[in-house]
Amino acid sequence: MKQATLVLIKPDGLKKSLTGNILTRLSETKLDIIAAKIVRPNRELASEHYCQMKEKPFFEELIQYICGEIHDKHKVMAMVYYGEDAIKKVRNLCGATNPEEAEPTSIRGSYGRITSAGIYENVIHASGNETEAKREIKLWFEPDEIIIHLFPTKITEITSKVRVWHDRRP
Ligand code: PPS
Repeated sequence: MKQATLVLIKPDGLKKSLTGNILTRLSETKLDIIAAKIVRPNRELASEHYCQMKEKPFFEELIQYICGEIHDKHKVMAMVYYGEDAIKKVRNLCGATNPEEAEPTSIRGSYGRITSAGIYENVIHASGNETEAKREIKLWFEPDEIIIHLFPTKITEITSKVRVWHDRRP
């Protein structure tokens, strides 16, 4: 069954210049990248992304981590991968959430670590199931940022001001 999954290369992955390595590993899946962008997550986006973890003792650290406050790298590479069994294929490549338990050859096993305070720095996020994937993709991407029609959309008129290029032509 074809699926879409959200993948985030986290601030530690970007800080350690792992983007190329991680994308190369992900290309082993032969899945299609159907959306990609660099995002500077704010606390609102981060809290919404990790809304199921709100009661965890490490929630504040999790938010600081994904917002780049710990690595002084305030960006995340967000992507949507699409294809047959995308969720499982990407999760298998990532390895276990706890980097110490991840297969040494997996992405998290190769590049992740646990801090002395017990916080996971596991360089990559990937959706865990279809419900999670749908929620997360809609949170990180607008419909027009994805090159295929994934979920139902509607046309709505927005009257707020937006920033545009001052002059599109040189
Ligand atoms: S999973 O893979 O979604 O089932 O993992 P889960 O155990 O539910 O964890 C959800 C996210 O919380 C992060 N996490 C932690 N962060 C810091 N310290 C500790 N101890 C910790 N335990 C779990 C975990 O990395 C998951 O985030 P992602 O972005 O999926 O890695």
